[in-house]
Amino acid sequence: MSILVTGGAGYIGSHTAVELLQAGYDVVIVDNLSNARADVIDRIEKITGRRPAFYHASCADPKELERIFSRHTIDAVIHFAGFKAVGESCRKPLQYYRNNLDSTLCLLEAMERFGCRRLVFSSSATVYGMNNPVPYVETMPALSSSSPYGWTKVMNERILTDYAAVHPDASVILLRYFNPIGGHASGLLGDDPNGIPNNLMPYVCRVAAGQLEKLTIFGNDYPTPDGTCLRDYLHVVDLAKGHLRALDYAGTHPGVEAINLGTGKSVSVLELVRAFQNATGVRVPYVMGPRRDGDLPEVWADCSKAKRLLGWQTELDMEEMCRSAWNFVKRHEA
Ligand code: UD1
Repeated sequence: MSILVTGGAGYIGSHTAVELLQAGYDVVIVDNLSNARADVIDRIEKITGRRPAFYHASCADPKELERIFSRHTIDAVIHFAGFKAVGESCRKPLQYYRNNLDSTLCLLEAMERFGCRRLVFSSSATVYGMNNPVPYVETMPALSSSSPYGWTKVMNERILTDYAAVHPDASVILLRYFNPIGGHASGLLGDDPNGIPNNLMPYVCRVAAGQLEKLTIFGNDYPTPDGTCLRDYLHVVDLAKGHLRALDYAGTHPGVEAINLGTGKSVSVLELVRAFQNATGVRVPYVMGPRRDGDLPEVWADCSKAKRLLGWQTELDMEEMCRSAWNFVKRHEA
């Protein structure tokens, strides 16, 4: 069975490609490498002993998609391709809307033309917006977000839902990720953002590596036990495995399902920093700073639907998340 993985050279895409190849799927990756390195394909091969087909192309390019769908019999698509930096999306909203919506539209048009009806979409907890109480449950309104990036997730969920409504044989799974961190056990894959990281764990790793001087914790006056924000961090390998379960489920269940992927547990910024120091033995200097615009005090998942429908739950703990994130950064530096 052949799976097209858009954005398959990126952080979550590459880990998912590994799990797919190891489970015996054929994998076709399309990635324009706007936020990923070409040698990720070599690393995927090194881990799995199998090389995915790779197209260095944009999935918002209909001609490239035509070429890919003509050459391969694509049975299902996992759609990761998209810009993902929250702050940048506020400065460049048009680029975000153009890129993240065009890619989905072009992909759906190609799938429609070639009769491919199974799609797993990389969505985000950000679709729950600013007003739902935690833990987030899939039945809550998920119709707004705090940034253009987040709005592209809301809008893509809508586009995919409308698409499925006119294709009764289509199955679409909207996977709403909470905060994926960590890397592959081999140390060959991990979160490797261009420039100064926005997200917490890559920032912590760069401070630990001495590339950045110190972490600024954005706010310690939130109504939480230690005053810092609470998030639901999950291991990227657990998350990748969730995609395989979703693919299986989609194979036998037409329609649309939104499913949270998280641990169901909340961890504060300070707890994460301490867990990192304990797991790696490396000090992470930090200072307290002002709150960051758009941050919510607490975000975590109700994960019972993933367990019920997909038989999925996380297996790897915070120590493993920190160790594997650091292992990747250390190897990568050398
Ligand atoms: C954000 C997005 C989410 C997206 C995810 C990964 C929103 C509301 N959330 O999640 O949709 O999927 O990024 O791209 O759009 N922090 C610090 N110092 C730092 C960096 C972060 O204290 O230098 C804190 C933040 O205030 C937050 C926590 O760490 O409390 C996690 O931040 P981050 O990793 O950026 O993820 P989210 O904002 O939760």
